[in-house]
Amino acid sequence: MTMGYAPGKVILFGEHAVVYGRPAIAIPVTQVQAQAEVQDVPTDKGIVIVAEDLGFTHRVGPEPTINEQARPLETIVLKTLEWLHITPRPAICITVRSTVPLARGLGSSAAVSTAIVRALAAHFSIAITPQEVSELVYQTEIIHHGTPSGIDNTVIAFEQPVYFVRGKPVEPFQVGRPFHIAIADTGIPSSTKVVVGDVRTAWEANPERYEALFNRIGAIVQRARIIIERGESHLLGPLMDENHQLLRALGVSSRELDLLAKAARKAGAGGAKLSGAGRGGNLIALVTPKTATAVERALREAGARDVLITAVS
Ligand code: MEV
Repeated sequence: MTMGYAPGKVILFGEHAVVYGRPAIAIPVTQVQAQAEVQDVPTDKGIVIVAEDLGFTHRVGPEPTINEQARPLETIVLKTLEWLHITPRPAICITVRSTVPLARGLGSSAAVSTAIVRALAAHFSIAITPQEVSELVYQTEIIHHGTPSGIDNTVIAFEQPVYFVRGKPVEPFQVGRPFHIAIADTGIPSSTKVVVGDVRTAWEANPERYEALFNRIGAIVQRARIIIERGESHLLGPLMDENHQLLRALGVSSRELDLLAKAARKAGAGGAKLSGAGRGGNLIALVTPKTATAVERALREAGARDVLITAVS
């Protein structure tokens, strides 16, 4: 039996604009985790995938599955086996479990796929680099999310803060001094595919306005990177607020996210913004060891389903 693990992620700055070539900054979140377990089984069983949290078992057949739920899992398993040159198909059972909440901007799909790739590579004793893991996982992200930028698979496969520009080699960067953020779950699922599709429709209808908003977001990301590298994280708050306003202007915030942002700021957070695709999912707020408890309480009182405090280091 072999295991593979992967963390969740949040985007600190730059979501949506990153789909249009601007930079974004993302960090791994280790308090949530996906895991995959690979076991050899009798040869007549073929490949079996057990998705414990989703409550289904899928047997991989000779033709690609038409089962929507099983398709991304089947795809990542078959693509990884092909990449590892494992032929003929082995008889294995892959059991997947995850504490990364689904459809909340924490990268659940990329985390599950990454855990599967790592578990399969370990099972067949083949070394695989983070870049190779990321490229394999991107192929299933397309099934989940349409035309994703690739930031989720990159930050999860590299497991360190990344400054990401679509199509460019990843740039891990140094956090000058660790700082803390609160991650508040609205409890509202959000489909990245739908929200990214809506932004695309709006961009097509009014390219000048949207390009200008993306440029302003890109400039925030560049400033944020310098601040993080210098260890001056107390200066990040206003940039988070500004980024949130620009995301509102893109049409991807919601009443609940705006309420949480307001509550976090009032309770002492340095700044707050939605994180990920928006409409639902998560809000992040800049906290310190001194403000964390009050901000967490305020977020819960304002309707957050769950709040995590995570260190960025
Ligand atoms: C989703 O986590 C982030 C988006 O920017 C989409 C993407 O980058 O593919 C909204």
